[in-house]
Amino acid sequence: MASNAWRSAVQHVAGALRKETRTFSRGMQTVTLIPGDGIGPEISTAVMKIFEAAQAPIQWEERNVTAIKGPGGKWVIPPDAKESMDRNKMGLKGPLKTPIAAGHPSMNLLLRKTFDLYSNVRPCVSIEGYKTPYTDVNLVTIRENTEGEYSGIEHVIVDGVVQSIKLITEQASQRIAEYAFEYARNNKRTSVTAVHKANIMRMSDGLFLRKCREAAERNKDIKFTEMYLDTVCLNMVQDPTQFDILVMPNLYGDILSDLCAGLIGGLGVTPSGNIGTNGVAIFESVHGTAPDIAGKDMANPTALLLSAVMMLRHMGLHDHAKRIETACFDTIRDKKVLTGDLGGKSKCSEFTEAICQRVRDL
Ligand SMILES: NC(=O)c1ccc[n+]([C@@H]2O[C@H](COP(=O)([O-])OP(=O)(O)OC[C@H]3O[C@@H](n4cnc5c(N)ncnc54)[C@H](O)[C@@H]3O)[C@@H](O)[C@H]2O)c1
Repeated sequence: MASNAWRSAVQHVAGALRKETRTFSRGMQTVTLIPGDGIGPEISTAVMKIFEAAQAPIQWEERNVTAIKGPGGKWVIPPDAKESMDRNKMGLKGPLKTPIAAGHPSMNLLLRKTFDLYSNVRPCVSIEGYKTPYTDVNLVTIRENTEGEYSGIEHVIVDGVVQSIKLITEQASQRIAEYAFEYARNNKRTSVTAVHKANIMRMSDGLFLRKCREAAERNKDIKFTEMYLDTVCLNMVQDPTQFDILVMPNLYGDILSDLCAGLIGGLGVTPSGNIGTNGVAIFESVHGTAPDIAGKDMANPTALLLSAVMMLRHMGLHDHAKRIETACFDTIRDKKVLTGDLGGKSKCSEFTEAICQRVRDL
């Protein structure tokens, strides 16, 4: 897949969001940066260095995000982080660790709920020069981000029996279904596939699917298909080129989008955008905190960098986005300076410097 295809796919994420985007003025713009945990600070530093080399007109407002208890004992994100996001509307986020049994909800979940980041958009497009068993992958997963299996409603029924609620609402299903069609149209894509298990979860996935079908009725210019999640998984590994846009509830989206990331080279190269109401958007790498390599200067910053490129386009800064993206893809295609996950031996800082050099030369 030519890098042009990738560029076009990511470029058009911005297109789909145009209606929700506030108008950004020329000149320096402030973005809330949440470096995150584990490798987060290393890859955030890499992105900041590359942006500086590219003279991108972004100033970063760094905020840490740890769960704190607000009034009434409710878990909230720190007020200074919320205030910063409310004001800037735009955020770039590194991975956040989710300790099991930490006593507080996942910070990623809390962020999604706080800013109503209802849509997670992940373009998965083959990267030229980086060989994987698959070529010409060019698809986008659109995941409902606020409810479903991740609604966080769990309780003990009796000792030894717990229950976790999968919450599906008409409103959220309709919102994400409409968004998928709108995204398809704005990005000149031709088909939307609803991914579900309505044969088993007749009420919950049944409602989700019904809302997708209704949205399809209102968007007849876009081809609509529906497929069981298991069939999609099978077909995806056999021939991913048959898919265009896939829309699905939360848990399926979490798993399937990671699978799709694997098709193009893994978590280290896959970006994403979380789109919310009121013009708020937070862009983030798909991968986690990578505790096994944290602090060792081994992380690949590409996913966060490409997420930041998505963000630049969302803000209308296309020239800077293109320069940074070109420098990144050229560095990967050149194969001389690559991090371990891409088959190289270079450190994160060396890879970053190679991209900076190219950005300056472009
Ligand atoms: N969006 C997020 O904030 C997010 C997403 C997933 C997981 N997490 C959290 O991260 C923690 C660790 O999760 P995990 O180990 O399951 O998944 P992970 O993504 O952190 O790591 C999986 C594997 O991929 C590698 N990897 C990930 N990112 C890489 C990068 N940029 N460069 C090179 N290699 C990379 C890791 O070294 C590891 O071998 C957990 O606490 C989890 O909850 C956060």
